[in-house]
Amino acid sequence: MRNDSTLVLGATGKTGRRVVARLGLHGTPVRAASRSSRIRFDWSDPAGWDATLQGADAVYVVAPPVPGPVHEFVARAEAAGVQRLVLLSGRGADTWGDSPFGLDMRSAEDAVLGSALEWTILRSSNFDQNFDEDVFHAPLVAGELALPADSVPEPFIDVEDVADAAAVVLTGPARHAGRIYELTGPRALTFAEAVDVISRASGRPITYKQLSPAEYTATLVEAGVTEDVAHHVAEMFVLMERGLFAATTDDLATVLGRAPRTFEDYALRTAAAGAWGR
Ligand SMILES: NC(=O)c1ccc[n+]([C@@H]2O[C@H](COP(=O)([O-])OP(=O)(O)OC[C@H]3O[C@@H](n4cnc5c(N)ncnc54)[C@H](OP(=O)(O)O)[C@@H]3O)[C@@H](O)[C@H]2O)c1
Repeated sequence: MRNDSTLVLGATGKTGRRVVARLGLHGTPVRAASRSSRIRFDWSDPAGWDATLQGADAVYVVAPPVPGPVHEFVARAEAAGVQRLVLLSGRGADTWGDSPFGLDMRSAEDAVLGSALEWTILRSSNFDQNFDEDVFHAPLVAGELALPADSVPEPFIDVEDVADAAAVVLTGPARHAGRIYELTGPRALTFAEAVDVISRASGRPITYKQLSPAEYTATLVEAGVTEDVAHHVAEMFVLMERGLFAATTDDLATVLGRAPRTFEDYALRTAAAGAWGR
């Protein structure tokens, strides 16, 4: 039997569920998988992977939080008849040097680069949606976001754009095979500027406070995060402050033929939905 569906891993997450929606809209048969989905997929349970891969022609992979498993997964995907694989990775995955940050993404990229599949890697900037669907949400609702980020701006990207790009690369012409795209928003903002946009869009006073990496680590640990994870997250900000991923790219336009959505558009839409209170 011919494989004709697209398997989406991380299907309940910020990018995966949007990729699933786009494929559904365009009538592409889709298998939405994660630990809590009807089609189960768990990176720590390789015994279940072959069943999940059945019938898949293309796969969307969100790099797992630990280095290693993508190598075996890619081998299984090849054996199952998968033709195309799109990996979501992070901007700078090739420039983090000897930092322990991002070993998971680097390992996933290595696995994909060594495969015989039609692969594409999407290296994304930080998501706009981190401000309402992830770690920055609760502090913003409480009125203050405090991070170890100063004057180096970040070209935040709207996850709707990441999902648009992933859907095109998964189902469109093969011209994206063997390409690594660095996906960014249209302009870079400091965290202070991003918080100011959110504050104005939501009509609420929300402030930004700069911390040192050590202070930030301590606040995470106080909030119940393990020391290891806290150091890991703080390390990301240290790397960002080097300015290596502050520049915008045209890669999203190369894939989609249009400019990326702006942070202001994201903030207005999300504020109107009530994400940061009124
Ligand atoms: N946030 C950013 O700014 C940013 C920027 C660039 C790259 N990235 C990368 O994007 C990836 C995260 O993607 P996302 O934001 O779309 O996802 P997400 O919102 O973080 O959600 C994670 C997804 O993975 C699934 N999952 C978690 N642990 C799993 C496991 N052990 N086995 C199988 N599935 C598992 C979750 O569903 P279940 O709980 O149901 O399993 C969920 O669907 C990470 O690799 C991150 O490094 C993030």
